[in-house]
Amino acid sequence: MLVSILAISPFSLAQIKSDLDKKVEQFLNTHKREWRDMNVPYEDGKILYDLIVKNGYTSALEIGTSTGHSTIWLAWAMSKTGGKVITLELNERRYKEALKNIAEAGLSEFVDARLGNAHDLVKQLPGPFDFVFSDADKDWYTQYFINLESKLKAGGCFATHNVADGQADADFMNYVKNHTQFTTSIDRTSRAGIMISYKKK
Ligand SMILES: C[S@@+](CC[C@H](N)C(=O)[O-])C[C@H]1O[C@@H](n2cnc3c(N)ncnc32)[C@H](O)[C@@H]1O
Repeated sequence: MLVSILAISPFSLAQIKSDLDKKVEQFLNTHKREWRDMNVPYEDGKILYDLIVKNGYTSALEIGTSTGHSTIWLAWAMSKTGGKVITLELNERRYKEALKNIAEAGLSEFVDARLGNAHDLVKQLPGPFDFVFSDADKDWYTQYFINLESKLKAGGCFATHNVADGQADADFMNYVKNHTQFTTSIDRTSRAGIMISYKKK
């Protein structure tokens, strides 16, 4: 036992990580132009990845898995911080395809993918979360935020997609921007727009 523990040197642990990085990068680059199910573009995935790694977040929730492009970016970030992402999807075909994609990218151990209606699942999940990515039904954006605001840790981040392309409605935007417990900005380097709301400490 002792021998096998000692056999895992810091070098071999680093090697395992870099092998995973190579696998994920290869998957993302190979499939970069193939996402067809309302998936975020590569650049937006990178924004989410950077937010998680920069802040060291470890307990993420994604609403709207689709076929798993953003989930792969979130899970890759989790592989850096030692965390896990729960992701929710209603459509069985997309859910199954996401599982396949996540496995092909080598990231299954960092993902808890659930098939079901997020309207119910979000209420049932106890949390707490330190990162939320909201990217499902836009007419439910405010309700998701309300259901999750108390489950988000102080210092945590609630990221919402499609806030600069007319998909998120003004009532939602105003609700979040005027929320006294959150500091909100919009990343407009994303063509769709990502609203980034940090919960005050
Ligand atoms: C914009 S796509 C998500 C794209 C994904 N985040 C990506 O970048 O790869 C929205 C997804 O949310 C799912 N969805 C819509 N309403 C839902 C609900 N009430 N519960 C769970 N999933 C839902 C849709 O089936 C769709 O696959």
